[in-house]
Amino acid sequence: MIRSIVLGSGSYLPEKIVTNADLSATVDTSDEWIRTRTGICERRFAAEGEKTSDLAFRAARAALDAARIGAQDIDLIVCATTTPDETFPAVATMVQARLGMTRGAAFDVQAVCSGFVFALAVADNFIRTGTVKRALVIGADCMSRLMDWNDRTTCVLFGDGAGAVVLAADEGAGDSRDRGILATAIFSDGRMHDLLYVDGGPSSTGTTGHLRMQGKEVFRHAVNNIASSMEAAAKAAGVAISDVDWFVPHQANQRILDGIAKKLGIDEAKVVSTLALQGNTSAASVPLALTAAVADGRVKPGDLLLLEALGGGFAWGAALLRW
Ligand code: ACO
Repeated sequence: MIRSIVLGSGSYLPEKIVTNADLSATVDTSDEWIRTRTGICERRFAAEGEKTSDLAFRAARAALDAARIGAQDIDLIVCATTTPDETFPAVATMVQARLGMTRGAAFDVQAVCSGFVFALAVADNFIRTGTVKRALVIGADCMSRLMDWNDRTTCVLFGDGAGAVVLAADEGAGDSRDRGILATAIFSDGRMHDLLYVDGGPSSTGTTGHLRMQGKEVFRHAVNNIASSMEAAAKAAGVAISDVDWFVPHQANQRILDGIAKKLGIDEAKVVSTLALQGNTSAASVPLALTAAVADGRVKPGDLLLLEALGGGFAWGAALLRW
């Protein structure tokens, strides 16, 4: 059975650090409110002129270096983003050009905060059907560009960043001891539009728009939907949640992470959290957390990882993989 194994991962954060105290100088908020409600202490913002494709390119370069392969060995780039440099073309094609990759295909996936999990599912299916041998999967967002700085309920939550993984086809036995992606489970429910959306776009207002969110409602759905997608991925692969070594969640809010851990009986020490220093980086948050846990030695070869996310749409899902 063909499996998509991870050859390497990489990430990039913009240099500019914005602390809660920095924000409270211009927004009616406080370090205490943000920390206690969300777990966020600081986040990174892209510099003026720094674009999503710049962050995505750096993360992609780092992932290729970690995988020890060149861009010409890649057949497919899938980039998850909500904040493209331009309405078109895809950020993935911009990264393709900057990497010097002149073959294969590159396109973007739009599933907001769950984009990386969706992009991983897309690339995994291309690999498992034998269509491509190696894929670069990127999650990159400049969420700071979508904020309404007069809306303190949203503008304190988000940050900018990018992360990426290189996937390659490998032969597996077809059971849960295989390395690579063992299962993905993705879902969406378009009826939830009004709970989390951007109030602009090319075909409506002709502007970029600002993020709008009903936080309490998002919170309530997030815990239930994410937990059920995690159970669906585990069931599809024939493993128990208790078999998982590391949970690598989308970083939206520490209280969402704690709520999911409680619901599924997960030891909080197994949950990778980068929220405090990064905030919610949308499609970038899962690969950023993954790369951090690999770099500091928590994630080791053979470990079972469960990735999960939920975002606007709603769109949500989980991916189970053996490192
Ligand atoms: N600073 C200070 N006070 C604030 C701030 C702020 N930044 N934001 C809101 N408040 C005030 C409100 O005005 C309100 O004041 P009032 O009681 O005088 O009216 C009070 O705090 C409570 O506001 P709520 O919106 O009810 O705050 P809540 O406890 O729901 O927390 C939060 C808000 C943190 C956004 C929470 O709803 C949440 O975590 N939701 C999940 C949404 C999320 O993480 N979304 C990310 C995108 S989706 C995703 O990635 C999964």
